[in-house]
This record gives sequence, structure tokens and C-alpha cells, in this order.
Amino acid sequence: MNRFLAHTGARYPIVQAPMGWIARSQLASAVCNAGGLGIIETSSAETENCMAEIVKMKHLTDAPFGVNLPIRFLKDDAILSFICQSGVKFVTTSAGSPAKFIAPLKAAGIIVYHAVPTVDTAVKCVAAGIDGLVVEGSEGGGFKNPEEVSTLVLLQAIRRVTDVPLVAAGGICDGKGMAAAFALGAEGVQMGTRFVSSAESPVHHNYKQSILDAKETGTLVLNKKASPCIRALKTNRTAAIYEAGLMPADTFSRLQELYFGGDMEAAVGLAGQTSGLIDAIKTAKQIIDETVAEFHVISARMGAMAAASNFG
Ligand SMILES: Cc1cc2nc3c(=O)[nH]c(=O)nc-3n(C[C@H](O)[C@H](O)[C@H](O)COP(=O)(O)O)c2cc1C
Repeated sequence: MNRFLAHTGARYPIVQAPMGWIARSQLASAVCNAGGLGIIETSSAETENCMAEIVKMKHLTDAPFGVNLPIRFLKDDAILSFICQSGVKFVTTSAGSPAKFIAPLKAAGIIVYHAVPTVDTAVKCVAAGIDGLVVEGSEGGGFKNPEEVSTLVLLQAIRRVTDVPLVAAGGICDGKGMAAAFALGAEGVQMGTRFVSSAESPVHHNYKQSILDAKETGTLVLNKKASPCIRALKTNRTAAIYEAGLMPADTFSRLQELYFGGDMEAAVGLAGQTSGLIDAIKTAKQIIDETVAEFHVISARMGAMAAASNFG
């Protein structure tokens, strides 16, 4: 029995990553209606809008969905109280210690997974009573641990120290990546970059096209000596930040112009190394159906190898 599916009630163990302004009801409901688990973001810190998006989800899908609480970005407890009373059954926490959030969320009957980039944080979260972990490898887009550890290694390292369900995030955009993650002990996968570039993603076409155009070397890890350390698409702007080593304070101030206006030099376009694998805009349903089908082809091949005690 897949524990992530038991925890969430989703049809498939495929999660659409929380992403500020992007992971709202248009994208999340398409993912849920295709059998995945859509997540509504709150990292935009637009509390009222995020609450409205959670309410909208109930009109757009009958399937379960989740909400992300990025601890460091929460202005107050308003969104926490709202979620506890909203009927939401699954929350991922990220960007900070989830310790004080676990008790109120669990008291409201909510399953809580926390996103971790290291074994040490995984151990602390398990001790604090977390139900599962999102294992965030360095291949992924968004905020990163500057001490980069790939999903390949991190999953194994965390699997060694805990038996809680693991969702692999970072570097996964299809059934091959999903099969690899399951081989390493994951019971679910989370995709960010793949869903930014999906048909239902609300971002400007230029952002999606930049992901399609990027090679496997098309992203940079920026600001490693300060906070936040991020992985973003290579542009003139991000190349200059990379060379300088530090990210100017106003880097995100015109993010909306990049996300929704299509000016790829206005800010930094968060994306992961799977940009080098993604070459078409697909609907959430296509992404999920193709991922599940490819996962089963690969796992059948693995099963046949095990049954025959050979290597294919
Ligand atoms: C555009 C973008 C925005 C993101 N914003 C968030 C966020 O608000 N909260 C969070 O927990 N993770 C955020 N992430 C990280 C994702 O949750 C996810 O772990 C990561 O995208 C997985 O790697 P992938 O991009 O290779 O699929 C973001 C990622 C991207 C690409």
C-alpha cells in the first residue's frame, strides 16, 4: 500500500509543487482533476488571495488537494487558522522549522509533510512528529540549500534514517524520474519546473518557452553565500548575479513582470535542471498520464529482471 496515497486520497502519487503566484487554482485544479495532487501556494504572502484560491478549489475539483505553508514567509497566523477550519486535509510546510505548526495542523485532522534538503533537518522533523517528508534535491528550481546534494543521494541518505513516507522533489519530470525515485525509496514525486511549463500554468509564454529552450546546463545556483540561495534560468541578469556571487536585494521586486509580463530580464525565473529535459508544453493531464504510463513500463521491466534474476 502506498502511504502517500493513503495520506492524501489522490489517485496517483504525483504532486504539483507549491510555487508562489503560479500554484493557484487554475493549475492545481487541473492537476487534481487529472489524478495528481495539486497544491495551493501561500509563499506569495497574499493571504486574502490565497484563501480565495483555496475556496475556489472546492468549486473546480472534487478531488483532494493540498496547501503549502512556507514558514519564513508567513506574516501571521491568519492563513494557518483558515486552513485548519477549511476542510483541507493535506499540508506541506517548507522554508523554516515546522515544529510549532505540527500540533495545530494535526489537531485539525491534517496530514503534514515538511520539505527538507538535508538528513539533519529530516531527523528533526521526524522527531517533531511530521507525517512524511518532501525530499528536496539540488536539481530542483526555487529556493535551495547552498550545500547542494542531488535527489539521487539525498533520498537514499534520508531513507536510511527514517521510515516515514518520502516524496522526491528535484530533477523529476516524467516516468523515468519517478521510477528512479521509487527505486530509491520514495512513495511519491513532486514536480515544479514541469508544471510551470504546463498548458494550465498561468505564467507568460516567454517563461514557458525559456524552460523549453534551456539545456541541462540552462540553470544557475545563485547567492550561495547569502539567503535565499536559489536555482533559476540562465539569463543575462542571472549570469551577472552568478559572477558577482551575491544577489541584489531588489532581485524579486519585479517578479510579476517576468512571470506574467514575459520580461525574462525583469527578475529571475526560478526553474530546475529538468528544463533540459522538457521540450513541449503539455496539459496537466498529458503530463500525469504519460508519467504514470512510463512509470509502469519501467517498473514492469524491472520486475521482469527480478523475476528472471538477470539484468535485462
Ligand atoms: C517557480 C518555482 C517556485 C517555487 N516556489 C516554491 C514555494 O513557494 N514553496 C516551496 O516549498 N517550494 C517552491 N519551489 C520548489 C518546488 O516546491 C519543488 O520542490 C521543485 O520545483 C522541485 O524541483 P523541479 O523544479 O526539478 O521539479 C518552487 C519551484 C519553482 C520552479
